[in-house]
Amino acid sequence: MSLQAIAPRLLGRAMRDGLRGASVAFAQQQRHIGTTRVALAGAKNGLERPNVAIAGVTGAVGVELLNCLDKRNFPFNNLKLLASARSAGKEMVFQGKKYVVEELTDDSFEDVDIALFSAGGSQSKRFAPSAVDAGCVVIDNSSAFRMDPHTPLVVPEVNPEAAAHHNGIIANPNCSTIIMNVAVWPLYKLSRIRRIVAATYQAASGAGAAAMRELEQQAVDWSAGKELKTDIFGRQYLWNLFSHNSAIDPTNGYNEEEVKMIRETKKIFTDDNLHVTATCIRVPVLRAHCEAINLTFSSPVSEEEVRAALAAAPGVLILDDRQHNQFPEPLLASGEDDVLVGRIRPDLSQPHGMGYELFIAGDQLLKGAALNAVQIAELLLHPHDQ
Ligand SMILES: NC(=O)c1ccc[n+]([C@@H]2O[C@H](COP(=O)([O-])OP(=O)(O)OC[C@H]3O[C@@H](n4cnc5c(N)ncnc54)[C@H](OP(=O)(O)O)[C@@H]3O)[C@@H](O)[C@H]2O)c1
Repeated sequence: MSLQAIAPRLLGRAMRDGLRGASVAFAQQQRHIGTTRVALAGAKNGLERPNVAIAGVTGAVGVELLNCLDKRNFPFNNLKLLASARSAGKEMVFQGKKYVVEELTDDSFEDVDIALFSAGGSQSKRFAPSAVDAGCVVIDNSSAFRMDPHTPLVVPEVNPEAAAHHNGIIANPNCSTIIMNVAVWPLYKLSRIRRIVAATYQAASGAGAAAMRELEQQAVDWSAGKELKTDIFGRQYLWNLFSHNSAIDPTNGYNEEEVKMIRETKKIFTDDNLHVTATCIRVPVLRAHCEAINLTFSSPVSEEEVRAALAAAPGVLILDDRQHNQFPEPLLASGEDDVLVGRIRPDLSQPHGMGYELFIAGDQLLKGAALNAVQIAELLLHPHDQ
């Protein structure tokens, strides 16, 4: 069942006028984040129609970057599609026009104003400096620069003002971090949150196009009684779940995904005293991550206040129908811009009003990656008075 199909009976104010289209969402976002002044360093075609490049355009995020630029009618002059030498010469169609993919090199950015990078951390480290030297602003999806103190880490619904302080690179946070931050920030503004405990249920798409193909292939091979290929995760993924595939720190037992959620959230919220912990799990879902989130506030907050803050929050859609047991699900979140938030309830183990539970689902290829990056690019185009 699609989100559209269940929407009329499920959703509150945000849904009553129908699913919000991209243009409406953009208008709302501009209202909420319209206090930012951002300079586009080195814009060669003015702020109106920049030259744009996508590095990693053939990947899971790269394809969604194209879709987001299209859906949001992002204004551009020229578009350059970049990937590895393997893809050089491949044709891709965007808005009815054929583009030939070029190999990403140091010389790729001569006439480029905004470069959206999603080709992996080592490519970002290798080529982003060349792009910056060429006068380009890089919006980077990898983890290469996220914790660099001189690189803003931006979720436009949370800290759009940070984008103004870039030195040529703006980092897009980790996908699980973004989705969690969009849901938690409106509540943090009600009463400072002291502690976040998160458990993730992460889809194949978070590990890229090849991981999605492997899960699909395992389903096909399992149905045919064949042996399953396990090249990506080294284990059966279908009918299974396992601890996130990123490396574990042997000294503290946390994997890299968990550490990203912890450190990045503190940076985005500019709150070093915020306690965050996470357990990240890969589940056999093709697309869209879910997260169970437990919050501890510094002062009591009523359930009505929590619900009102979430209902008014940009990028959040409440899906919380106790009667029909209808809450966020990956299939409902797939392809949606908003983070779905449900299972909203006081944490009964905490003093009244001090703790809340949420269950959320977000399309991590969209809000967790491509959409967030394009929203950052929009900040560069639409400076607003502080
Ligand atoms: N997947 C997510 O949900 C997600 C979320 C947030 C952030 N990210 C980050 O976004 C980046 C891309 O992730 P993805 O999931 O889209 O991965 P993917 O599906 O594996 O795509 C990787 C892309 O990088 C390109 N690439 C690989 N090596 C290259 C090289 N040497 N030079 C130029 N391009 C190269 C690939 O081009 P070819 O096709 O030519 O190999 C492809 O376009 C990663 O840094 C990832 O951490 C991903």
